[in-house]
Amino acid sequence: MRLTLTVNGEVREADGVWEGESLLMALRDHLDLPGSKNACEQGECGSCSVYLDGELVCACLVLAGQAEGREVVTVEGLAAGEELHAVQEAFVEAGAVQCGFCTPGLIVASHDLLARNARAGGGPISDGEIREALAGNLCRCKGYEKILDAVRLAAERL
Ligand code: FES
Ligand code: FES
Repeated sequence: MRLTLTVNGEVREADGVWEGESLLMALRDHLDLPGSKNACEQGECGSCSVYLDGELVCACLVLAGQAEGREVVTVEGLAAGEELHAVQEAFVEAGAVQCGFCTPGLIVASHDLLARNARAGGGPISDGEIREALAGNLCRCKGYEKILDAVRLAAERL
C-alpha cells in the first residue's frame, strides 16, 4: 500500500508498505528515519517511542496503516536542523548515553514529560515523576542515574 503521513512537519509518502507492517518499520525501512529503535517489537522497552498526533506511543505497536494521514514526530524531529533540542543536549552532557540503543525513546519520553509539565504550569518535577514517566523505557546498560541527571538538567534549562 501507499502510506501518506506527516513526519517531523513534512508530508511523506512511502510505497510498498505491507498492511501489517508497524509504523516503526515504516519509519525505519521506508522513510529513512532510523532514530527510533527496534529492540523488543512488543511494546515492552520504549526504544521506539514517537509522537502520533501529539501522543506518546510505541511505534512498534501502531500499524503503519493506522498512521495514514496523521502526524508523527520522531526523535529526529525534536532537533531544529543541526541544533539539538535541550533534552538531547542534556543527555549528551549528563553522560546518559552508553550504547545509545534506548536513548531515542528516552529522549522522546522525557520531552513528553517536560512538555506536559510546561502545559501544567512548569513547576518543579520530582524524581518520582521522572521515574514514572520513564517507567516504560528500558535501558539494558542500566544507566538510569545518568538518565535522571539528564532529565533534571533539561528541566532546569527549560
Ligand atoms: S521496540 Fe517498541 S516497545 Fe520495544
Ligand atoms: S544506553 Fe545502552 S540500552 Fe540504554
